[in-house]
Order: sequence, then structure tokens, then C-alpha cells
Amino acid sequence: MKRQTFKYAQALTKERLPFIPVQSILPHFCEGRSLFFRDTKTKISENTSRLFQKRQSKNTAKIGHANFLSSYSSLVFSRTNSCAVNKMKTIKLATSGQEMPMVGLGTWRAQPHEMENAVNVALECDYRHIAFNYNTEEAIGNVLKNWLGSGRVKRNELFITTKLPNFGGRPSDVERFLKLSLKKLNLDYVDLYLIHMPFSFQLNECSLSPLVNDDGSFALDPVDYLDTWKVMEEQVRMGRIKAIGVSNFNAEQLERLYDNADIKPDVLQVEMHAYLQQRELRAVCQRLHVAVTAYSPLGSPGANTHFSSKYQYSLDDFPDILGHPTVREVAQKYEKTPGQILLKHLIQEGVIVIPKSGNPERIKSNISLFDFELALQDVEQLDQLDRGENGRIFNFLFFKGVENHPYYPFKSKESNSSSPTECS
Ligand SMILES: NC(=O)c1ccc[n+]([C@@H]2O[C@H](COP(=O)([O-])OP(=O)(O)OC[C@H]3O[C@@H](n4cnc5c(N)ncnc54)[C@H](OP(=O)(O)O)[C@@H]3O)[C@@H](O)[C@H]2O)c1
Repeated sequence: MKRQTFKYAQALTKERLPFIPVQSILPHFCEGRSLFFRDTKTKISENTSRLFQKRQSKNTAKIGHANFLSSYSSLVFSRTNSCAVNKMKTIKLATSGQEMPMVGLGTWRAQPHEMENAVNVALECDYRHIAFNYNTEEAIGNVLKNWLGSGRVKRNELFITTKLPNFGGRPSDVERFLKLSLKKLNLDYVDLYLIHMPFSFQLNECSLSPLVNDDGSFALDPVDYLDTWKVMEEQVRMGRIKAIGVSNFNAEQLERLYDNADIKPDVLQVEMHAYLQQRELRAVCQRLHVAVTAYSPLGSPGANTHFSSKYQYSLDDFPDILGHPTVREVAQKYEKTPGQILLKHLIQEGVIVIPKSGNPERIKSNISLFDFELALQDVEQLDQLDRGENGRIFNFLFFKGVENHPYYPFKSKESNSSSPTECS
């Protein structure tokens, strides 16, 4: 009996999913609770075998190869650290070899004083991955300086991400904006630097922000992100960046970049949550060995207020994913918060998450995700909340006229252009 179970697990890993470690698969067949595999090549506990046997026939019939592959996309190429209870897992990035913690603190839309406090709380709660936006760096640089200066944390224990702004895409601007970020962050290097968007705007030199035309539209700059990337690669060689990646690129754009890059992109940061699960994009990332980071993993509650006040743009049907009855029901079952369930749904499938919070309780709960596993039937229920493209919140149409940019990423396939000739 035991032998059979192990053989089946081997068959899954060897023949169908060649690189997935057994421990990544079994918990999902076995209710996922209290399982720990010390050495999955040789040992599967008696108890686990029994559980696995019980669920095996039911689940194998249910899970098709494709669905399985896409569900475990990131795990195919990544190795997660062994899962001690509530201990942070990391993903090893394929090109740089950096270990990226699967939960980071998002910082967008926070006021400087709020963020300063949030980063302090987060570091106390063992967050070591912080995802910055160029407009939140300054407030937080001092916090990092204090923590590093006092020796409470070492630089190599932190994973700091920041981005090249969408108004800094010209190759001649990259070094300048990176240096500016490093200065604000009080750091010599960042662990991950992302091109924020595949499209660029012209630069308003006075305010270091996108140039806006008289009619309120944004002044587009058709710079090719491949040219920007070449300079990002130089910055890696110069030691200012460990890993490079992109954000808000579609699958075609990511593949084009991948095919032309000397240093391959390590990470794609995109909007991802229960309403926008992006399975096809995840499969592309899996094939290219690009790790996926989900931004707005909770559905960005409050973003609509931000859009309407800053851009006079609002979404009529703004989602409340945290309040969805299925999410609440699953949360009740596990005695977790709806936020923890949405985050777990992503990290359990190998997706890195960067929830933003300025609230100490929520900061703490958003990282407390490693002492439970969602059972297959609950994962499936959450999978069903996917609304495809209708679930997208960030289409960036609040940047008036952006849809006319040749590299705007969310056009329909027919009209989407990724050819450099169409840029000229
Ligand atoms: N690359 C890009 O273009 C892009 C775009 C958007 C976002 N991002 C990044 O992704 C990060 C996260 O995305 P996001 O800020 O849009 O959305 P999010 O993380 O999905 O949601 C943040 C909001 O949820 C609230 N919240 C946090 N934890 C909660 C919990 N456990 N239960 C209930 N509410 C909770 C927060 O309020 P409190 O602060 O009051 O807790 C905040 O209003 C950003 O901070 C940014 O770093 C990147």
C-alpha cells in the first residue's frame, strides 16, 4: 500500500510534472494539514499514505494535467524552503539565484508617516521583503537605515524591490532613476528592480512625473522596453541591482523580452487575485522560469477612491473580493481572516504576494500564512471566483490616452502590437 502511494507520487513528479517536489503536491491530495515530509525521496509517513490513498482516486480523476500544471506553475521551476510551521517560504529566482520571500509588504497609496510605522511593524513581524514604489521610498529609507544601522537586521536578510517609473523608461534615464531610488532608500543596491509598465510617458522634468498634455491626456513616449532592458542589464553588471524583472507586461511582451534579453527577467509583477487569476499568463511564466508576484492580492480595497480623487476616474463595479461569500465561508472554516484566505490561495500555488497594509493587526495577519494549507475542494471553490479579464481593476485607463500607446498591454490580441517596427 505504502509502496504504491509512493510510486504514484513519483509518477506524478517524474512523468507529468518533472520538477515539482513531492511535498508540493501531496498536501493538496491529503487535506494539507499537519503534513511534513522530511525526505520526500524516501519517506512518506504511514498516516500520510493512508490519507493520500483515501483521496487519490477521487482527486486524480478530477484534476486534469493542464489544470494541474497551471495550478502549480511557479513550483515547477522554483524550490520552496522546507515548511516549518509559519516560517516564511522563499522562491529561488532562476537567473539571479536570489531567494525571494513569498510574502512582502506592499507600500502603495500609504501616507509617509503611515508607511514609516508600517515598515517598522512589518520588520518586527519578520517581513524581510518590502515592495516599494518610487513615491514611497523616501519615507521608508530612514526606517531601513535605523534597522540596518542598529544591526537588528542585515542587508543580506532583506529583499528590497523597487521600480523604474513609467516616466523614466528612456535608456538615458534608467541610471538616474535607479540612483535616485537608492539614495532615497539609503541602500547601495536593490534586490529586484522592475520596469513598472511596458509603456512610457514623456517626463515632466520639473515635477519628475509624467508629462500631461493640455487636454489632460498623458504625453506618450514610444520607447521600446527592449532598449530600456539593455540598460537595466548594465546596472546589474555594475552591482546596483541583483535581479531584474517587469511589471504589467502581457504574455507576448514578456516572451519578446525573454527572447531578446541577455539577462533573463526573473520576476513578473502583475495584478492577481481571486477575480483575476491569470492562469495562461502563469503558464507562460512557468515555461520561462519567471516567478510571479501578485499585486493587489486582496483586490485593492480603497483603490477606487484613489482613482477618483487623483485621476477623476472611477470604476462603477468595484469588486469587494474580501466580502465574497465563498471567501468568508472558507475563512470561517479555517478560522482565518478573508485576507489570509485570499493570500493563501495564491502562495499555495507558488505565487508571491505583496499585500499593502498600514494597520499593525493586518500587517501581522497577512504574513501568518504558513501554519495551514487549503484543502483541494476549497482551492477549487476559490478557483471558481475567477472572472477573467472582467476581474481586472488596473487597466490604467485613468492615464488618459494610454490605450493609444503601442505597448499598452491590455488590448485584444488582434490589435495588440509588440513589434518594434510598429513603434516608430
Ligand atoms: N506594479 C503595479 O503597477 C502595482 C499596482 C498596484 C499595486 N502594486 C503593489 O502591490 C501592493 C498591494 O496592492 P494594493 O495596495 O493595490 O492592494 P491590496 O494589497 O490588495 O489591498 C490593500 C488594501 O487592503 C487593506 N488590507 C490590507 N490587509 C487587509 C486584510 N487582511 N483585510 C482587510 N483589508 C486589508 C489595506 O488597508 P489598511 O492599510 O488599512 O490595512 C489597503 O487598503 C501595493 O502596495 C504596491 O506595492 C503594484
